[in-house]
Amino acid sequence: MDYAPLLRLLRGSSLRQLQVFEAVARLRSFRKAADELFLTQPSVSIQVKKLSEAVGLPLFEHVGKRVHLTEAGASLYAACREVLEVLGRTEMKLADLKGLKEGHLKLAVATTAKYFAPRMLGVFCQRYPGIEVSLKVTNRERLLERLHANIDDLYIIGRPPESPDMCFEPFVPNPLVVMAARTHPLAGERGIALARLAEEPFIIREPGSGTRMAVETLFTAHGLKPRVRMELGSNEAIKHALAGGLGVAVLSRHTLALEGESGPLTVLDVEGFPLPWHWYVGYPSGKELSVVARAFLDYLQGEGRLIAELPVSGPEDLATGALSRR
Ligand code: PGA
Repeated sequence: MDYAPLLRLLRGSSLRQLQVFEAVARLRSFRKAADELFLTQPSVSIQVKKLSEAVGLPLFEHVGKRVHLTEAGASLYAACREVLEVLGRTEMKLADLKGLKEGHLKLAVATTAKYFAPRMLGVFCQRYPGIEVSLKVTNRERLLERLHANIDDLYIIGRPPESPDMCFEPFVPNPLVVMAARTHPLAGERGIALARLAEEPFIIREPGSGTRMAVETLFTAHGLKPRVRMELGSNEAIKHALAGGLGVAVLSRHTLALEGESGPLTVLDVEGFPLPWHWYVGYPSGKELSVVARAFLDYLQGEGRLIAELPVSGPEDLATGALSRR
């Protein structure tokens, strides 16, 4: 592509404005772009306005509550994706020349993986202190959007898309269990039937969550429907609702990482549980991985499971790589 005309057109616009525009165009929302970039919504609007002034045409139109790209916006979006991708690849090549001494790792993980992914990153960063990392935590649906838009280096997800264009491997078990307050009438009962569980009020994650998808798939396969009392967008909020006696929920056992089963919640003994899910790590198959991303992937596949299963205040020898010698 000859970038000269585009550069002339965008003279005076910053790369930051292009990044902000790219996020709004991809997410079709000023609010979601602001959340993703840790900016306020007014500052996103200002950046887009400046860019639109530089181009001399409106880039978005609002129909009701929805944001649409204008024709000018759509062309700029296509060019922008190309420019940002070329810059990303160049940055990667330059970083690769420096090996693991420097570089950047962009990791995106499903909400529930936040219970172990930061620890894994922490150990990796201690081993390679020159590497900068960024971690995006979002639900399954948003994660898939990022994956298709090729935003990050690597992704951790509960159930990767079934497509030959994806390169994902399981690396850590993700048992899904039924939780309730320790004082719940079903606590301590053995072999609870799924049909019996379906009579209980359920607290369920938001649409787009992988955990919710697992619950719905299971109940539908048994011709049942959970009695949903409440829908919440956070595992921690669900745990508080359970502790308050509001019902039962299916969550990853990882959500008990800090308090274990000695807190106010207990795991119910329901037939067919725990569901033997796994965490997968991967990337779209055409993607060229940087040296840093490749090293992180190898590290997760070699030591990820052990780190995820360690108590939260794990031994200090993690950083030195002593785990791999066990
Ligand atoms: P969730 O993801 O946090 O969106 O429920 C878990 C998953 O990907 O299975």
